[in-house]
Amino acid sequence: MTPIGLISGLLLLLLGQSLEASPSFSLDYKNNCFLKDGKEFRYISGSIHYNRIPRVYWRDRLLKMYMGGLNAIQIYIPWNYHEESPGQYNFSGDRDVEYFLKLAQDIGLLVILRPGPYICGEWDMGGLPAWLLKKKDIVLRSSDPDYIAAVDKWMGKLLPMIKPHLYPNGGPIITVQVENEYGSYIACDYNYMRHLTQLFRSHLGDEVVLFTTDGGGVNYLKCGSLQGLYATVDFGPTANITAAFAAQRHAEPNGPLVNSEFYTGWLDHWGSHHSVVQSSVVAKSLDQILAKGANVNLYMFIGGTNFGYWNGANTPYAPQPTSYDYDAPLSEAGDLTEKYYAIRDVIKMYREVPAGPVPPTTPKYSYGAVKMKKLQTVSDAVETLSLSGPVKSVYPQTFIEINQVFGYVLYRTSLPVNCSEPTPLSSPLNGVNDRAYVSVSGSAVGILERNKVLSVNVTGKAGSQVDVLVENMGRINFGNSIKDFKGLVSNLTLAGVPLSGWTIYSLSIDEAVSQGLLGEEPATWTDPSPPAALSPPTFYEGRFIIPDGIPDLPQDSYVKLPNWRKGQIWINGFNLGRYWPARGPQVTLFVPAHILSTAAPNNVTVLELEAAPCSGQTCTVEFTDTPILNAPVESEYRHHRLFMKEDLL
Ligand SMILES: *[C@@H]1O[C@H](CO)[C@@H](O)[C@H](O)[C@H]1NC(C)=O
Ligand SMILES: *[C@@H]1O[C@H](CO)[C@@H](O)[C@H](O)[C@H]1NC(C)=O
Ligand SMILES: *[C@@H]1O[C@H](CO)[C@@H](O)[C@H](O)[C@H]1NC(C)=O
Ligand SMILES: *[C@@H]1O[C@H](CO)[C@@H](O)[C@H](O)[C@H]1NC(C)=O
Ligand SMILES: *[C@@H]1O[C@H](CO)[C@@H](O)[C@H](O)[C@H]1NC(C)=O
Ligand SMILES: *[C@@H]1O[C@H](CO)[C@@H](O)[C@H](O)[C@H]1NC(C)=O
Repeated sequence: MTPIGLISGLLLLLLGQSLEASPSFSLDYKNNCFLKDGKEFRYISGSIHYNRIPRVYWRDRLLKMYMGGLNAIQIYIPWNYHEESPGQYNFSGDRDVEYFLKLAQDIGLLVILRPGPYICGEWDMGGLPAWLLKKKDIVLRSSDPDYIAAVDKWMGKLLPMIKPHLYPNGGPIITVQVENEYGSYIACDYNYMRHLTQLFRSHLGDEVVLFTTDGGGVNYLKCGSLQGLYATVDFGPTANITAAFAAQRHAEPNGPLVNSEFYTGWLDHWGSHHSVVQSSVVAKSLDQILAKGANVNLYMFIGGTNFGYWNGANTPYAPQPTSYDYDAPLSEAGDLTEKYYAIRDVIKMYREVPAGPVPPTTPKYSYGAVKMKKLQTVSDAVETLSLSGPVKSVYPQTFIEINQVFGYVLYRTSLPVNCSEPTPLSSPLNGVNDRAYVSVSGSAVGILERNKVLSVNVTGKAGSQVDVLVENMGRINFGNSIKDFKGLVSNLTLAGVPLSGWTIYSLSIDEAVSQGLLGEEPATWTDPSPPAALSPPTFYEGRFIIPDGIPDLPQDSYVKLPNWRKGQIWINGFNLGRYWPARGPQVTLFVPAHILSTAAPNNVTVLELEAAPCSGQTCTVEFTDTPILNAPVESEYRHHRLFMKEDLL
């Protein structure tokens, strides 16, 4: 081809492209709607958190959402999931958000992106990395220069990665939220919101629709909305729709009506009844919202699982369980529910729902009971568990001071005096965050619990070893107390005198479990005594083989721990999460099939914190095909009613 031919060819190509309008997405203030490629557009979206679903199931869940009639999904990006320590970014495997975006687009779903930096989401610290607390007096979600510097650096990494996935650039992302429910937070720092707006604009450009979300009341929008960010509201199926949208209209007299979080169910807390919202109530309210021509995002469409340590907590301190089922239209395990079909039937009245079969619910398998045997106690295994070795300190230090984020820390000291009579070992300032398992000379003596149990009695000779294993049960993710330091955040006292001379062990339990470093307890005799009321935190291990000759194994399953009390469970080194059947309401943990092996026996490791049902008898964990998320809760800890957002303001 001659140079002239080349140039005219290129010209033709350019002309040809400009004849087709380039993709665009914008607000139409005249017609109170969104415009997609210049045409009126309304989204019916559902929330899905890739961080709560194993990557192997992303496609299945997204396809079910598409087949349910949605044309969009809404996702959060949890900062602490991608930057676990400063400057160490992880976007691979289950954290590969770009792959997730690509899948959504391939399936035909648009994306509403909520990159925070704060996300709430019943996720540890609302998605903020705990290492921000290294600066003790940091003011989170404000113009605090150290907070801003960290946000700028993170967004400088994230937003350029996101930019090619914006709709005008050929990707699925139609709108991007700035912060989250900022009007519910005490700081009310407009400079912070202005800074975020400029930051987002500088990375994403001037065209992308940026928005905010706040509760459906004028008072929430006061500190939550900002000029240049499109204000939307969130409210559940029992709200007064007219009043909630009137609040949005107060901030946005024109433009599309948007409910960014229409609650299909609700969250759970340990010790409170499982939340259930009737399908008929959800369906009726959804119908009314859609009849107004409004845009809506169903929160959650699928909740998923808080694997590992990722659950958050509310105030007064109430941690969320491992399951984030949410009573959503797709269950924790992605199962189709009656609510799914009720919602689909409503959507059908407003837009065409894709033809063809909905992907079926994945089969579940009962692998049965697995015999468990006792390994070392945490105290015995402490040298193995503490890879970095202990820190010596006169008074206790918090998790973050010793560079630990999640899990458990062992605080060790000794009795300074003879305690021949029961002597109170106390946390007078309520400084155990969140639960402490206390033993003296290797015998369990009691449990301290934040806001609930501030003192236990101990006896023992001067010099006896005192071990206090402190569990981080999840950082507060909503409200004004999100600066939630973990560990012993104030002194423990013995008969009113502060204990000192601590040896503090940061514990890498997950590494030890996955590398199989835990040893067996020296089996000297068979303990014939009945199960103890309380034992020191101890590891247990069991094995099971996936049966041969049954097609399509391994399949998903659920595991329950009958008569076990509280702890953490791993399968083949994968941290499934916390169990606490003694408090409820969650009894079974979701076991995704991809962590199971047919090539080798599967290893189950349990860290039981209170007492295993094992002494003098065999004890088991049980794999079943049916979830139990709604067991009765221990009455002593029962909350009187459901926690509502309004309670926290
Ligand atoms: C990144 O995250 C993935 C998924 O959780 C994990 O498998 C991988 O080990 C992580 N990589 C690093 C370097 O931590
Ligand atoms: C809903 O709110 C509107 C506007 O505030 C009010 O007029 C109406 O009476 C309310 N409806 C109910 C059922 O409370
Ligand atoms: C504790 O009691 C023992 C006798 O049982 C005594 O020898 C020792 O001095 C006492 N220690 C302290 C610190 O009071
Ligand atoms: C500790 O012991 C004292 C004296 O025996 C008793 O009065 C008190 O109730 C006990 N406290 C706890 C928390 O068990
Ligand atoms: C513990 O007590 C000591 C002595 O009273 C005091 O100096 C220190 O600040 C206290 N530490 C904490 C974390 O409360
Ligand atoms: C379970 O642990 C044993 C011993 O460490 C190991 O040989 C086996 O491969 C493990 N099983 C799986 C599925 O990882």
